[in-house]
Amino acid sequence: MGKIIIAIDGHSSTGKSTVAKRLAEALDYLYVDTGAMYRAVTLFALENGLIDDSQQNFEGLKSHLDDLDVSFQRNPETGQFQIHLNNENVENRIRTLDVSQQVSKIAAIPEVREKLVEQQQRMGVGKGMVMDGRDIGTVVFPKAELKLFMTASAEKRAQRRYKELVERGEEVTYDEVLKNVQERDHLDSTRETSPLRKAGDAIVFDNSDMGLDEQFERVLCLAQQVMEKGL
Ligand code: DC
Repeated sequence: MGKIIIAIDGHSSTGKSTVAKRLAEALDYLYVDTGAMYRAVTLFALENGLIDDSQQNFEGLKSHLDDLDVSFQRNPETGQFQIHLNNENVENRIRTLDVSQQVSKIAAIPEVREKLVEQQQRMGVGKGMVMDGRDIGTVVFPKAELKLFMTASAEKRAQRRYKELVERGEEVTYDEVLKNVQERDHLDSTRETSPLRKAGDAIVFDNSDMGLDEQFERVLCLAQQVMEKGL
């Protein structure tokens, strides 16, 4: 069967990465979580005092972009690819609410997007890839053979994310998480460079009331149909 590119975009906390990861495993494809790349750059900015709630030194961040290396490296214990920032594994450190609260600002900087989009396009050259994010079907791979756009109500998404954070031991309230989900929706869809929007030829998946297994089965079926057509 011919190898294809599968682009999965959509709102934050819609479970894009869970479905994308499972799909990549089932097809033996590479999985790339582009949100993790924006989060890694945000972590760099936070840890180097370039942004916090009261200030944002975007010029300082831009001047560091050339020597900032974001990569995915295989964890020898789990076999999973994990995000590295300048060769250091930061997979856990990028998932905090602190990073979530700053990431939309960083993802709106054109120079940051330019650097990461270029890297993402290079990763897809050999095809056989599932990539998730916000602009994969519109900007990174506008010719992807299969495009999905995932969404769900803000409340449902906040409930899922809240549960995840609490399970990881973070001290957050549901209201804080809901506010973050809504703020990110707003910032991600109204930014000037590559705002979050559905590609004209993307298939919409509202998973407010859909379990993970059902989503996965449906998406796998769609992917198989596309691959068979392309034979
Ligand atoms: O998927 P996520 O929640 O981990 O993404 C983190 C942030 O990065 C999200 O608020 C928007 C941004 N993002 C983006 O602008 N473009 C992408 N391709 C992926 C993520």
